[in-house]
Amino acid sequence: MKLAILGSGFIARFYADALVAQRRKDVITMVYSRTESNARKFADDYNVPNYSTSIQECVEHKDVDAVIIALSNDMHLESILASANAGKHVLCTKPLGRNAKEALQMLQAVDKAKVVGGYLEDLCYTPKFLKSLASIKSGTVGEVIWAKSRETHPGPHSDWFWDKEKSGGGAMVDLGCHCIEISRNFIGKNNKPVEVMCWADTRVHPIDAEDNAVGLVKYENGAIGQFEVSWSFRGGMDLRDEVMGTEGTIWANNFLRTGFEMFTTGKGGSYVAEKAESTTGWLFPVGDEVHELGYNHMFTDMFNAIENKVQPSESFYDGYIVNAIIDACYVSAKTKKWEPVIIEDWRGIAEKKEAKQMVSYDEDHYLIKEEVLPSGEKKFIIKNKKTGSIEVR
Ligand SMILES: NC(=O)c1ccc[n+]([C@@H]2O[C@H](COP(=O)([O-])OP(=O)(O)OC[C@H]3O[C@@H](n4cnc5c(N)ncnc54)[C@H](O)[C@@H]3O)[C@@H](O)[C@H]2O)c1
Repeated sequence: MKLAILGSGFIARFYADALVAQRRKDVITMVYSRTESNARKFADDYNVPNYSTSIQECVEHKDVDAVIIALSNDMHLESILASANAGKHVLCTKPLGRNAKEALQMLQAVDKAKVVGGYLEDLCYTPKFLKSLASIKSGTVGEVIWAKSRETHPGPHSDWFWDKEKSGGGAMVDLGCHCIEISRNFIGKNNKPVEVMCWADTRVHPIDAEDNAVGLVKYENGAIGQFEVSWSFRGGMDLRDEVMGTEGTIWANNFLRTGFEMFTTGKGGSYVAEKAESTTGWLFPVGDEVHELGYNHMFTDMFNAIENKVQPSESFYDGYIVNAIIDACYVSAKTKKWEPVIIEDWRGIAEKKEAKQMVSYDEDHYLIKEEVLPSGEKKFIIKNKKTGSIEVR
């Protein structure tokens, strides 16, 4: 695969690190940046043969099969339309749009051009996520009742994130997009998100957008996805997921304090990990950050999809659904009520639901709960099938 990267900032470098470091057959042949000096520096750093300050020139280049969008949120739509019009596959970072209206236009553009639209949702490709999802799909935790995901850090690294017009919002659109898609995967993508309840507030930073938010997303099967996001959390970047199922539980800590600790008096002062706030004392580095954040598995899935002419596990459609959920969250944060998720283009496949199986204690009673007490006594809480009365045996 011959690749163009649009953008030469923070995420463009993470992507290039993932692509260049692992001796892939896929090569970056072109990079775009607004300023020539940044484009040239990126090209030098990653051995990229061509660079340009024109998006059009980049996407139309003969040595480009797929375009990777690593630009600020306000530039996604324009650059995706240019890529699709040039007939190139296009892989876009998160969030797909600043809102669902933009995301839908992007989805329609790749559909019309018959190219792959890959949604670069890296946190749905981390090693712990992939293992969790495989376990859930094989029934390990039973039916998922509640899935929670948290991303909090002290705030983003570039000016445009803090400008609501350019970013589309605050912590909710920036970090909530990850959390919502993680929970949605665990709950099952064919379950339609129906309504949301959300709290969002600007507690710390002098900005128009929210820097903290918590939200609940209700799915049509009754499952709840919960997200917690912050741009004012102190102490690094906290990425944690939890799943509660009828037969099991998953707790995954993906980044901060996962068992690798280092102490330094401060000499040297090398890079620790994304959004780490300290370079002295006890530190919590991340071994292979590119891998731990999912970038390697993500690009493998994207390129396999392009080669096999299918959509990847995370596609523009998924990015669109996430944007629709976030739009509803912004409404709910204002009205302080449950608000519907408006999806104009729902493509989920309705699954046949099995009737809920109650566990019987005996012919006349259901079993609610059994427990061994500290005394060694075993208790059974049961419900009479006819009268509904609850008893203990
Ligand atoms: N985990 C992740 O997946 C992850 C992490 C960080 C950022 N992102 C996403 O990546 C995108 C870029 O974020 P970043 O962290 O790399 O930001 P950044 O500020 O480091 O880089 C942004 C790039 O966009 C360019 N740019 C900004 N405004 C532009 C304009 N008007 N015209 C042309 N180019 C413009 C900048 O020159 C730079 O090359 C955003 O959509 C962000 O949400 C994703």
